[in-house]
Amino acid sequence: MRIVGMLAVVVVCLGSMGWAQAAPAQPASAPPILLGTAWYPEQWPESRWDADLTLMQQAGIHMVRVAEFAWARMEPAEGQYDLDWLERAVNAAAKHGIYTVIGTPTAAPPAWLTQKYPETLRIKEDGRRDQHGNRQQFNWANPKYRELCRKIAAQMAQRFGHNPYVLGWQIDNEYANQSFDPDTQKQFQDWVRARYGTLDNLNARWTTQYWSEWYSDWSQIPIQTGYGNPGLLLSWMRFVSDTWRSYQKNQIDAIRASADPRQFITTNTMGFFDGFDHYTVEQDLDMAAWDDYVGQGHLDPVRNGATHDLTRGFKRKNFWVIETQPGSVNWAHINNSLDKGEVRAMAWHDVGHGADTVSYWQWRSALNGQEQYHGTIVGSDGTPVPLYEEVAQIGKEFAKAGPVLAGTSPKSEVAILYSYDSRWAIQWQKHNGDYDPVKALLSYYGPLRAIAQSVDVVPPTVPLSGYKLVVAPALNVLTDAAAKNLADYVRGGGHLVLGQRTAMKDDDNTLYPERQPGPLGALLGGRVEQYYALEAPVPVEGNFGAGQSQLWAELLSAKDPSTEVLMRYGVSNGWLDHQPAAITRKVGNGRITYIGAWLDDASMRKAAQWMTTDAGVHVALGPVPEGVDVYPRYGADHTVFILVNFAKTNQTVSLPKEMEDVLAGGAKKAVILPQYGVAVLTTK
Ligand code: GAL
Repeated sequence: MRIVGMLAVVVVCLGSMGWAQAAPAQPASAPPILLGTAWYPEQWPESRWDADLTLMQQAGIHMVRVAEFAWARMEPAEGQYDLDWLERAVNAAAKHGIYTVIGTPTAAPPAWLTQKYPETLRIKEDGRRDQHGNRQQFNWANPKYRELCRKIAAQMAQRFGHNPYVLGWQIDNEYANQSFDPDTQKQFQDWVRARYGTLDNLNARWTTQYWSEWYSDWSQIPIQTGYGNPGLLLSWMRFVSDTWRSYQKNQIDAIRASADPRQFITTNTMGFFDGFDHYTVEQDLDMAAWDDYVGQGHLDPVRNGATHDLTRGFKRKNFWVIETQPGSVNWAHINNSLDKGEVRAMAWHDVGHGADTVSYWQWRSALNGQEQYHGTIVGSDGTPVPLYEEVAQIGKEFAKAGPVLAGTSPKSEVAILYSYDSRWAIQWQKHNGDYDPVKALLSYYGPLRAIAQSVDVVPPTVPLSGYKLVVAPALNVLTDAAAKNLADYVRGGGHLVLGQRTAMKDDDNTLYPERQPGPLGALLGGRVEQYYALEAPVPVEGNFGAGQSQLWAELLSAKDPSTEVLMRYGVSNGWLDHQPAAITRKVGNGRITYIGAWLDDASMRKAAQWMTTDAGVHVALGPVPEGVDVYPRYGADHTVFILVNFAKTNQTVSLPKEMEDVLAGGAKKAVILPQYGVAVLTTK
C-alpha cells in the first residue's frame, strides 16, 4: 500500500520533470555513473527537505546516503520503531529523481541502549569501558548488541527492502574498534581452539617453548596486540576479522530476509586501514565502497590510485567512492581545501579507477555536533558554498559521459599482491622503524602504473593466469595456498617479481626454515642470505642503472646456474659489497625475479620498464606527458580513456587514433589539458 501510494506521487512529479512519460511501474533505472551526497534529514525540519533536494537535483545529484547515524531517531526507546520520517525522506528524494542508499545505524547506538545494556559498550585496551557521546563505542563481539542491531536492521529492511528508489544498503560505518572484555577473550580462545584443535599443535606452531609461553589450558591464552608471540598476534587479527565478518553477516541476513535481490549490500571501508582483513570481511558483500579523504595537502594520484585499486580488488569489480571530501575535512592538522578544479579532477580520477559513484560527505553541516568545520556543499544557511558550482559541473559531466561509461571497467595486465597477514607481520617487527609496507607497495605501484596505465591490487590467492606480470612487494607471510598459486603462475608462463621481505614466514607467522623466499626458493634458484636494516642508503648497480637501496637491503645468492644476477650492491657495510641485489631465473616461458633492494625512484622506473617489457605488458593508450594520468575503462565494444592532468602546466596528449571527446564534443587526435584538466575519450 505504502509503495503504491508513493509511486503515484513519484510518477506525477517525474512526469513534470520530463523523464517519465508514461506511468512506469518502476522508476527509470539509476544513472550508470552517480553523483551523490551524505544527507541527514533527521537533523533538519521536514519543511527544509524540499529546498535541499531541489538544490541537489539542480547539481545533478542522483543519490543520497541516509540514516547511518540515526538510530536514536529510528528507535527512540527499545522496540519503539519510527521509520515513517525516513520513508517520507526517501520519497521526497525520489520526487527529485534522487535514489537512496540506506545505512544501518549501528556505529552510533542511542544513549538508552548503552545505559540499559552497558555490556554492549566495548572495553578499551587499557581496561576502561567506552562511553556514549561519540561513535563506534560498541563491542562488536557482544551478543546483546548484535541482537539489537539485527532487530533495527530487520525493521529497516521490512520498510525499505522493496522500495524502488532504494538502491542498496550500507552496513554500519567504517568498522574499526575492538573490545578487550573477558567474554571476547573467551570467544578468541574458542576461535584458537577451533583453528588449532589441540594444545600440542598450537604449542608447536607458535613455538611456545620460547619464554615459557607454553599453554596447558585454552583459558590461559591472552589477547596481545602490537607486541607478543607472532603466531598469537596474527591469530588475534584473524579473529578480529572473522568477528567483523560475523558482525556484518548478522545484519546482512536481517536485510536479505526482506530486501529485493537487486538492492546491493556494502560497507564503507577506509582505504589502507589495516584494522581487519578486508578480504575476509568483503566476502559477504555485493560491492566494495570506500571513504576517500585526502586530509591535509592535495590529491596524490599514486597513493590514492593504489587505494582505489585496492578497493576494486576486494570484489574484483567496480566499486563506489561512497564518501569523499567536498573541499576540506575537519580532522587533519591543517584542513586546507583542495584547489579550485581539484575536486572535479579527483572525481574523474575516481571514475577512472573504476568508481561508479562519487558521493560527497556531506551535504550540509549539522549546526552542532563534532564536525561543524567539515567541508560541505551548502553552508549553515542552506545556500550553496563556492564549491557547489564545481559539484554541479561534475553532475553535468557524469550525465554526459554516463552512457559511454555504462558497463565499462578497468582491466589490467599487471597485478600487485597485497596481504593483511604480511602487512601486520612486518608492522609488528619492522626491524627498521621507518619501514612501511604500504610505501614498499607504492614504490612498485607508481612506476608500473605510469607504464601500464592500469594495475590491479589483489590478494595472492586469486587466479593469476590472466596477468602478464605479477609483483609481490613485502609479501612477508606466504601461506601454502599462495605459494602454490605463485609457483603455478610462473610454471604457466607468468612473470613473477618478488620484492623485499617476501616469503619469510608461513601461515602461522613462523619463520620458514629454508629462509626467503621459502617454498619459492627452488624455483628462483637462489635465496636471501641475510637482510640488513640500513641507517643510510647503500649503492646498487646493474641492469636498472646506478642507484641506491634505502631502509633495507637483502644480500642474495644465485645458486642455480640458470639464475642471473641483475643488480649488485656497491661498497657499503662490507657484507653487502659487490653481492647480488636482484636475481632472476627463466622457468619455461615464465620468469621469477627477486629484488632485494628498495630501489630509488629512478632505478625503480628502469626496473619497472624491464619487468613490463620482458613480460610483454602493453601500454593502454601510449606514452603521455609526465603528470598526466590515463585511466582506461573497457566495454564490450569500446574503450573509454579518461585523462587527468595533475601537472601544474598545460599538457598536450596526442592520441594513437582519432577518438570522440565525450565532454567537449568532436573527434580528436590530440587534447590539451590545463592543470586539473579532464578529457573523456571513447573509441566508439
Ligand atoms: C568519515 C565518516 C563520516 C565523517 C567523515 C568526515 O570517516 O564515515 O561519518 O565523519 O569521516 O571526514
